[in-house]
Amino acid sequence: MGRGATQRDTMGRNLALELVRVTEAAALQAGRFMGRKDKEAADQAAVDAMRSVLATIAMDGIVVIGEGEKDEAPMLYIGERVGSASGPRVDIAVDPVDGTRLLANGMPNSLTVIAVAERDTMFSSPDIMYMDKIAVGGDAAGVIDIDVPIAENLARVAAAKRREIRDLTVVVLDRPRHERLIDDVRAAGARIKMITDGDVAGAVMAATAGTGIDMMVGIGGAPEAVVTACALKCLGGDMQCRLWPRNDEERVAVVEKSIDISRVLYLDDLVRSNDVFFAATGITDGELLRGVHYFGDGATTQSLVMRSKSGTVRKIDATHQLAKLRQYAPNDFD
Ligand code: FBP
Repeated sequence: MGRGATQRDTMGRNLALELVRVTEAAALQAGRFMGRKDKEAADQAAVDAMRSVLATIAMDGIVVIGEGEKDEAPMLYIGERVGSASGPRVDIAVDPVDGTRLLANGMPNSLTVIAVAERDTMFSSPDIMYMDKIAVGGDAAGVIDIDVPIAENLARVAAAKRREIRDLTVVVLDRPRHERLIDDVRAAGARIKMITDGDVAGAVMAATAGTGIDMMVGIGGAPEAVVTACALKCLGGDMQCRLWPRNDEERVAVVEKSIDISRVLYLDDLVRSNDVFFAATGITDGELLRGVHYFGDGATTQSLVMRSKSGTVRKIDATHQLAKLRQYAPNDFD
């Protein structure tokens, strides 16, 4: 065996470079539904495309974060086995469309996302819809604390970044449940970028230099929290979460599984593996990624492809010849 082969074995396979084909296919299909006011059809198109391309990837995957339980989701349901069944045993988190409303209304920043990590390393909480979250980039890793007031977190992040609080920009989902939080951020003097949806993109922006975003905070989807944690592991960012039950039913369901609701979930609790792969493709144009642009019989996509072990972050611009792709995968590329 030559030196090259030895090195390749040591590095292992970068699954993210294959996973990007999954998110590209999903974006190409879902992108057709931009502004068409049909969330379900857009999501279904993304799910179908993802599942079909996932089957071609040599891995033995189990969906841990997916479209819901088996009875409510015919595909990419929690517990579904995906991949070719040979190769590494992995957990899979999918968010076929993060920002279905954004896509249906033709608004910026909808993404399609997949993350993969070693088997049994992703946090699973199918009984609970929401988590409270705080996320930052690598330059403020280690200073945040979900248990201290937001003003204190802002002061710590500002100090870590050698800036003033008024220079920080915080992403918050525009929801009535965040009224108090938003007031507190304003009182502390930071700037706010309110988003109508898509806190995965919001958190990834907070951990990406040059986006002008410094922090994502607030209550959002629990599945999105795990997906985000995978991205932040790759980017060297930091995140803390706490389950946020909406009612007694959710509270009881979690307690019955011996999960401590009050516990802070750190990045390593959300995804324990240190070999995490992440791929996301823009569906509608956004600040993080350009969306799908169609032309003649082709389209362009832009994707983020990352691996935590190597720390490599790639932005991939692709041009797809849909007529050619249809010749060998007619169902995946309408
Ligand atoms: P969907 O694309 O699944 O609709 O999720 C969009 C989203 O904005 C997430 O990014 C976020 O975590 C969650 O919804 C917030 O939930 P809600 O809209 O119920 O406040």
